[in-house]
Amino acid sequence: MQSNLHVAIIMDGNGRWATGRGLPRIAGHSAGAETLRRIVEAAPDCGIGVLTVYAFSSDNWKRPRLEVEALMALLGCYLENETGRCLASGVKMSIIGRRDRLPESLRASIDRAEGETGQCHLLQLRLAIDYSARDAIVVASNRAASQCAAGAPITRESLEELLVESRPVDILIRTGGEQRLSDFLLWECAYAELIFTNRMWPDFSPFDLQRAIHQYAHRERRFGGIPQAPAESQEHWLR
Ligand code: FPP
Repeated sequence: MQSNLHVAIIMDGNGRWATGRGLPRIAGHSAGAETLRRIVEAAPDCGIGVLTVYAFSSDNWKRPRLEVEALMALLGCYLENETGRCLASGVKMSIIGRRDRLPESLRASIDRAEGETGQCHLLQLRLAIDYSARDAIVVASNRAASQCAAGAPITRESLEELLVESRPVDILIRTGGEQRLSDFLLWECAYAELIFTNRMWPDFSPFDLQRAIHQYAHRERRFGGIPQAPAESQEHWLR
């Protein structure tokens, strides 16, 4: 089995899952939070070392005020309820994205979750909240520019060091049937294997996660190189 993978998930389809059942959209988000809890529990056994999930994009502020408020409250509850469980099971929680626009109470829950689970090592769970990959690239570029000696160019390595808080993404999963990245981890996904599923996020199960990992294991990652050929067939072309 693969190990220490970085898996990123766009948890899409909560709203449709709920409205299809005659429920308010927020019921879909609540069900989605439960799904996340089950997926976090299953992740280490699937060989995942880092799990980054898109909980609230910077563009999600455009949603109706009541939905935004409900999502903020849900995120706070999730952090409050899960911190103890994560600590007990060795899951380090951290947040990527802007914090300055979040409600004060959510910022306090984030500080507590990050503080209490900071020494955990089994799995790193990163929640992207008020996150935009393009904004992250702009912020890193400005920092790189101010750190560079006058006139020195920004390099891929210098930018990457400032930008990629974790590691490049191995597998990007998006539920809900859409096939786009929606401003999520654009740099980190440069060579990610993309897996799209029609399953709505609340219905996504640990078995679906295992299936995605299995799909990934059968893909050949070449990073721009050429397929791995047996040594003797390469020699044939060199003669
Ligand atoms: C997209 O579904 C999902 C979100 C905007 C938020 C993701 C949030 C959760 C999974 C629940 C809360 C998360 C945590 C960490 C507690 P959508 O609303 O765009 O669904 P739709 O495409 O069917 O409308």
